[in-house]
Amino acid sequence: MISKPGQSNRVVSGMRPTGRLHLGHYHGVLKNWVELQHEFDCYFFVADWHALTTLYEEDSETINSNVWEMVIDWLAVGVDPSRATLFIQSRVPEHAELNLLLSMMTPLGWLERVPTYKDQQAKLSEKDLSTHGFLGYPVLQAADILLYHASQVPVGEDQVPHIELTREIARRFNYLYGREPGFEEKAEEAIKKLGKRGAKLYRNLRNAYTERGDHEALEKAHALLASNQNLSNAEQERLYGYLEGGGRSILTEPEATLTEASKLPGLDGDKMSKSYGNTIALRDDPERIEKSVRSMPTDPARVRRDDPGDPNKCPVWQFHHVYSDQSTRDWVENGCRSASIGCIDCKQPLIESLLVEQKDIAERAEPYIEDPTLVRNIIADGCEKARETADETMEQVRATMNLDYY
Ligand code: TRP
Ligand code: SF4
Repeated sequence: MISKPGQSNRVVSGMRPTGRLHLGHYHGVLKNWVELQHEFDCYFFVADWHALTTLYEEDSETINSNVWEMVIDWLAVGVDPSRATLFIQSRVPEHAELNLLLSMMTPLGWLERVPTYKDQQAKLSEKDLSTHGFLGYPVLQAADILLYHASQVPVGEDQVPHIELTREIARRFNYLYGREPGFEEKAEEAIKKLGKRGAKLYRNLRNAYTERGDHEALEKAHALLASNQNLSNAEQERLYGYLEGGGRSILTEPEATLTEASKLPGLDGDKMSKSYGNTIALRDDPERIEKSVRSMPTDPARVRRDDPGDPNKCPVWQFHHVYSDQSTRDWVENGCRSASIGCIDCKQPLIESLLVEQKDIAERAEPYIEDPTLVRNIIADGCEKARETADETMEQVRATMNLDYY
């Protein structure tokens, strides 16, 4: 069974509120979000329930304050609430409802095989992660995505298996609940509603796909259905499903779109990560940024000022790759190898670029820090909009499962 690309413009992504965001987040995930919001109908949310799967023993006030600080970080880098819907997972209880329903039909073996399950348990061995919630983490994530009929989910590499699982869960749901007595007859009835020309086109495209596996035909058929106004939801689902011979397609299979990993390492050259203590936070103050860069390690061969160095052995050089233009980089390469510049000189243009960027971020954050109700209102609006979309999906889901006792 298939995706329902009628809503193929939808992007959904979530982030766990684990603390202040840093430049690693910015150059990886957040810049990507800022770009996506111009092209797609984006839903970005704070995955606070997901955070609880590993932080359930921690002071719950920490998660609460992390949530608001993280939203300010998003806004500060240019995530725009007039373009993207920003919300908090726990304020849209439909996530929990769909999670519950999907958990009924998700085989235990699928969850035990998800690589992050064992990896994270080993990595966070100080925590007891032998919990129902932690094993079920990917089901909740599937619910997050399927609620909005997302066509694309931008994630890092480690998350790709979760998106794969989401697709499998959607397929299983559609298989279990999309079948109905007299499906073929009902699909044939629905085809008639496409009008004479539409019906003919639909049949031709369906044949091209089922007989020759012509994917372009499948896409055209999807577009035909998406643009048709005469079909009810149920009829549309049937015709999507009928294209591939199955039952109705109620939940949409998403694609993972891989977010390019940040090219910016941590201050010490390792991956930038809060747990390594090698970060520059998005809203660090200028003094701190300056101090952090000044104390960055450099090529160990440059003990004295007139020892030549090799930029490839120096994390400062990787920062220049992200922050400096070609002429500055040439100056660094030559100067380092010939010892005509010192490491302090080399760091100076970097500090300047970082301070310019930091100033922008700080300026954008300022109004939200001064008046927290601004952030509260943005989130309240986002939650309301998310709930409307989520509720539509849940009505379909409940109806398909005969849970609509109205
Ligand atoms: N699991 C993701 C992470 O750890 C966060 C997340 C939760 C998410 N739900 C999502 C990402 C839905 C994309 C879509 O990074
Ligand atoms: Fe690194 Fe620059 Fe010093 Fe060379 S001059 S070692 S690139 S900081």
